[in-house]
Amino acid sequence: MTNPTTFPIWQQLAEHQKEVFPLHMRDLFNQDPQRFEKFSLEVDGLLLDYSKHRITADTLPKLFELARNTEVEQWRERMFNGEKINFTEKRAVLHTALRNRSNTPVIVDGKDVMPEVNRVLAQMRSFSEQVRNGEWLGYTGKKITDVVNIGIGGSDLGPVMVCGALKPYASPDLNAHFVSNVDGAHLAQTLEQCDPETTLFIVASKTFTTQETMTNARSARKWFLAAAGDEAHVARHFVALSTNAKAVNAFGIDTANMFEFWDWVGGRYSLWSAIGLSIALYVGMDNFEELLAGAHDMDQHFRTAPLEQNMPVIMALLGVWYNNFFHTETQAILPYDQGLSRFPAYMQQADMESNGKFVNREGKRIPYSTGPIIWGEAGTNGQHAFYQLIHQGNKLIPCDFLMPIQSQYAAGDNGDQHHKMLLANFFAQTKALMQGKTSLEVKHELEALGMHADEIRELMPHRVFGGNRPTSSILFDKLTPRTLGKLIALYEHKIFVQGIIWHINSYDQWGVEFGKQLAQGILPQLQAGEVATTHDSSTNGLINFSRRSAS
Ligand code: F6P
Repeated sequence: MTNPTTFPIWQQLAEHQKEVFPLHMRDLFNQDPQRFEKFSLEVDGLLLDYSKHRITADTLPKLFELARNTEVEQWRERMFNGEKINFTEKRAVLHTALRNRSNTPVIVDGKDVMPEVNRVLAQMRSFSEQVRNGEWLGYTGKKITDVVNIGIGGSDLGPVMVCGALKPYASPDLNAHFVSNVDGAHLAQTLEQCDPETTLFIVASKTFTTQETMTNARSARKWFLAAAGDEAHVARHFVALSTNAKAVNAFGIDTANMFEFWDWVGGRYSLWSAIGLSIALYVGMDNFEELLAGAHDMDQHFRTAPLEQNMPVIMALLGVWYNNFFHTETQAILPYDQGLSRFPAYMQQADMESNGKFVNREGKRIPYSTGPIIWGEAGTNGQHAFYQLIHQGNKLIPCDFLMPIQSQYAAGDNGDQHHKMLLANFFAQTKALMQGKTSLEVKHELEALGMHADEIRELMPHRVFGGNRPTSSILFDKLTPRTLGKLIALYEHKIFVQGIIWHINSYDQWGVEFGKQLAQGILPQLQAGEVATTHDSSTNGLINFSRRSAS
């Protein structure tokens, strides 16, 4: 059976949802003082509190049964063992091999990939150390001070997010910049901060054909040559991260300066590969390897823990519970850590590009909901922007709250004050979302302020909070490279489990490919300045309007 809704357990879950729907979490907490102990799990220093969810003791056992019926455990082994589970591209899905610190063989097409993985890691170590200690110099003999990663999607978001998160570990002598948007402003504004003599460009592209990246890379090269003059200097200032040696060579980057990865690394799962070179340069290779080690810890947990104690599995199942039985559409990710401000954007790509699918593995249209819309913002900024809708809007939005117990910057009394305030907000929000505020509580509150009964009656409906809004809390000691590795891998595996339950291929992205294809067709028309006649009337109209304003 391939359609999960045809399993009897799916129907049982739908029935169970009807029983759970009227229950209020406030009452569930009042009835069971052990609720936190029952619905929380600690793995390697990461705590997942899932007690503030609309679940009873009967809910998760049913969801575990759904996971077993859909063969999550078997598929998990297929992934780790290098089977080509990305069947539309005939590829294995082995980001786990990139961080396989145990070094046990991982076989693809009859060959162990670990020696190659280790070779590239050694190359990254040697190069990053040379740049960081000043052995690798620019064309005028000066030390590299600025690294510009040119890439987009998975060749950008991972390094941006990790470098932002691990800033306290960064070398004070090196600035990391990221250029992704083909809007010339992105590159121009970055180059304004750089000196060609001391800037290293990393052209990061799995395919080395992505229009945005190639355009930015060509413009960067032009900018560099305008100062350096001689093509021979390009070798000291441009390196490539790619699976496509031929295209790297054709672009004019010596393949000796290429850091390779492989087709079994998906773009949105590639920060663990050579795509992480900017991370290794910025925070050092030891810290990059700590990041890998953290992800490996989570891989081990995911692969070996029974479903009932498996953190990614529990998160995935809660997501399915809301997505498919409460019919929620979105999932918010809310990190209470400024360093993780790009974490929601990173997870947006990881999740939405993976599970935004409308056909199943047999190519049949899916009659149930698949990947949720992922969005979010760092706390407390989000509180002053969109939390109103989460608290009092008429949409149910499950939220993940992430929080380090210690700040990376908790220096002195004042630093501690900031973090205590952040923690207080974090605890308060999930509590408020769970319990809400009843009309009686509002009445007492307003009476205590001396408000007149008529005014209280008028204000009452506006000041009542329904509560019963589900949240997961993820707490960890401190945002170290190792913890960050665990957190990212936790979400990667959550996405995997959901993809298996929904019976989709989470590892292709034909929708994005289609947009790329159309843009390739329109570009020559724009370059030739032709009147558009071959598209639908809207597209023709828009192109022709843009021609008028350009002339
Ligand atoms: O956004 C689509 C996509 O194919 C992503 O999956 C990928 O991360 C990105 O484009 C960049 O691709 P490349 O690394 O080949 O330039």
